[in-house]
Amino acid sequence: MDTVYLRVNSENPDEAILKKAAELIRKGELVVFPTETVYGLGANTFDETAIMKIFEAKGRPQDNPLIVHISTMEMLKQIVSQDVESFSALMDLVWPGPVTLIFEKSKEIPDSVTAGLKSVAVRFPSHRVAQELIRLSGVPIAAPSANLSGRPSPTMEEHVIEDMDERASCTILSGSTVFGLESTIIDLSRGRPSLLRPGPIDPDQLKGVLPDLLVPDFVSGRKEYLGDPMSPGLKYRHYSPDIPLILVEGETGMIVAKVGIVAGRKKSLVLCSEEMKDYYPVQVKKVVLGSRDNLLEVASNLFKELRNKENMEYSQIIAEPFPETGVGLAIMNRLRKAAWKIERA
Ligand code: TXA
Ligand code: MG
Repeated sequence: MDTVYLRVNSENPDEAILKKAAELIRKGELVVFPTETVYGLGANTFDETAIMKIFEAKGRPQDNPLIVHISTMEMLKQIVSQDVESFSALMDLVWPGPVTLIFEKSKEIPDSVTAGLKSVAVRFPSHRVAQELIRLSGVPIAAPSANLSGRPSPTMEEHVIEDMDERASCTILSGSTVFGLESTIIDLSRGRPSLLRPGPIDPDQLKGVLPDLLVPDFVSGRKEYLGDPMSPGLKYRHYSPDIPLILVEGETGMIVAKVGIVAGRKKSLVLCSEEMKDYYPVQVKKVVLGSRDNLLEVASNLFKELRNKENMEYSQIIAEPFPETGVGLAIMNRLRKAAWKIERA
């Protein structure tokens, strides 16, 4: 299949161009589109044949459910069966934006979208292109991240071209995504609200509207907690770069020495912060993700560097740990899940 590439401005997309993509969604085709988190691989939520194409194109296991993207609160009513009134303050705060909320699903939602679960994950993206595409399609769009299964999510145009060329009917390009990490996921479908995946919005920012939010151990991304059955996608290998990624964790004062030891074994590249870069051995290549005082910057560069072709010329990537505050929780979740090995300092 030849992929049609469309280019639009991310803030002011040309409606005539997006109509072509919306038409393909309505016809049951796959369309890659940008969101403020990562690029998504979308299809009409209500078209089971189109949904199957998503799993095929990504090589995604069928038991890993999809997020349904909406552009109005009317669409939410159509796809959930739960009374959402008590969560209106939460929805007002986080939507549109980089947060996915899980509710009990309505009959309208095919089982293939939710992998047979009784709940559905819903996101109202803030990205203009995503919003307009959903509006013009007239249906909620089911979409996982637009990467081949197991690879880091695409945050740049070249990533979606690399993974989805000839797999989607159409790809809408509009530059790099904003946050560079997937949405925060919160389960509201089973009593006490629970964080399932940390993301751009952290638990502290939600305290005012979700005071009883549970933050389970598995959100750290530490392998010993990943067996938790709450979120089916957790058990799969994620975000893996093409060469081994070694994460060094432990006592702050010992990190530099340990990175030096690990780097001494092979031709290495260190993913690090601005503040630490000059402490590592001179012969080791340093790639700065950002400042430790600006973890949003670090987050937005993480997948970009895990996919950067130039970085793949080394024998291994070593990552320094980041503070688990704010979006740092999501950064460490992704790093631990992407790591081939964790070395203790
Ligand atoms: O930022 C994002 O969330 C991006 C953009 C495209 O919206 N999407 C994304 O989708 O990251 P994906 O498929 O890569 O990750 C969705 C995660 C998976 O781990 C899946 O298991 C979980 O959401 N999920 C989906 N529906 C669920 C449900 N009903 N219950 C529990 N987990 C669910
Ligand atoms: Mg994904």
